Amino acid sequence: MRIALVGCGYVADMYRYCLDLHADGLDLVGVYDRDPERLAAFARTWGDRTFASLGDLLAEPGLSVVLNLTDPENHAPVTRAAIAAGRHVYSEKPLGLTLGEARALRDAAGAAGVRLGAAPSNILGEQAQTLWRAVRQGAVGRVRLVYAELDDGMVHKADYRRWISRSGRRWPAEGEFETGCTFEHAGYVVTLLVAMFGPVRRVTAHAALLIPDKECDQPVHPAPDFSCGLLEFDGGIVARVTNSIVAPYDHRLRIVGDGGVLQVEEPWDFAGPVRLKRTATTRLDRLLERRFPGRRGKVVPAARPVPFRGGRGKPTMDFMRGVRDFADAVAGDRPPRMDADLAVHITEVTEMLQHPERFPRPATVSSQVGAMRPMDWAL
Ligand SMILES: NC(=O)c1ccc[n+]([C@@H]2O[C@H](COP(=O)([O-])OP(=O)(O)OC[C@H]3O[C@@H](n4cnc5c(N)ncnc54)[C@H](O)[C@@H]3O)[C@@H](O)[C@H]2O)c1
Repeated sequence: MRIALVGCGYVADMYRYCLDLHADGLDLVGVYDRDPERLAAFARTWGDRTFASLGDLLAEPGLSVVLNLTDPENHAPVTRAAIAAGRHVYSEKPLGLTLGEARALRDAAGAAGVRLGAAPSNILGEQAQTLWRAVRQGAVGRVRLVYAELDDGMVHKADYRRWISRSGRRWPAEGEFETGCTFEHAGYVVTLLVAMFGPVRRVTAHAALLIPDKECDQPVHPAPDFSCGLLEFDGGIVARVTNSIVAPYDHRLRIVGDGGVLQVEEPWDFAGPVRLKRTATTRLDRLLERRFPGRRGKVVPAARPVPFRGGRGKPTMDFMRGVRDFADAVAGDRPPRMDADLAVHITEVTEMLQHPERFPRPATVSSQVGAMRPMDWAL
């Protein structure tokens, strides 16, 4: 499958690093960024062919999939242009910055007869599939409640000016603060929950900008830096999802069922363990739980060994796995796992979390999703 990449920023290096894991299925024909310096640095780092314009890239003969890795503000125009050129598009998240924008892109793709999909793809990772399989197999019995924390600490106080990608891109702090941590991160857990429990039916949320002055080098208009929402699923399952760049780092995802708790520490670490802690019922168990709240339970055997290791400048997730599934789906004429309906649904729920003032309270989710298939190796 011939793919081309648009947007040679911070995350593009992580995608590019993971391309080698899919050399048997993905063929990168070239890259483009509207910033010539970024484009040149990326091409120097990876040895890729460059296009002189988006138009040239879209006109490349035999090109199947456009990988849209621009910043969120530019997702919609680039995706729209690619659809208009008859290309299938896999976009970084969010698909659009509003439900309306995301829906319009999905409908445009449908009308043009091309496929559209979007990140995040962490549900395709070993850890998420292991977690999902444990839920399917009833490891904690009937699921009642989910606590998902996506707190990142005070990022604006961190030395992010030194977070540099392989081709020399600085982490785009100003853009991240303006997009908002909820739009940047909520999708990583909402996708997992939707895969496991079906569509979100209602959302009750609160969001706030707690620290307006982000001490940036340039003036910024930050989005809310805190949100907390309750997502309701069929069967009465409720998930509390918290996003912030204020509270100390905590990315735990805990799935509470009658029989115990399934827990992961980091929902986008493919190699991270899934732990199972049985519900404390005896006096001794409850005493131990109070005395040693850090006890995290037994590791659930992984669905399969992780074929790569992150860390030391390497991503902890295979960013290209969603692209690979998408490209395979295009080739096999089947819907991709991360399809346009899912992306619209995730966008709607995320917008409800970050901008609850735009919706009634509680907000009824209008978009629908089909059931997602687990990866074959995790069945
Ligand atoms: N930064 C991260 O750690 C990270 C991690 C996972 C996902 N993401 C997602 O990846 C996406 C990109 O994030 P990033 O951090 O790489 O941003 P970035 O600002 O570093 O890079 C975006 C790049 O897109 C280019 N661009 C914008 N509009 C363009 C256009 N019309 N044509 C061509 N090039 C264009 C910009 O010049 C820039 O180089 C975002 O959706 C973000 O949510 C980022």
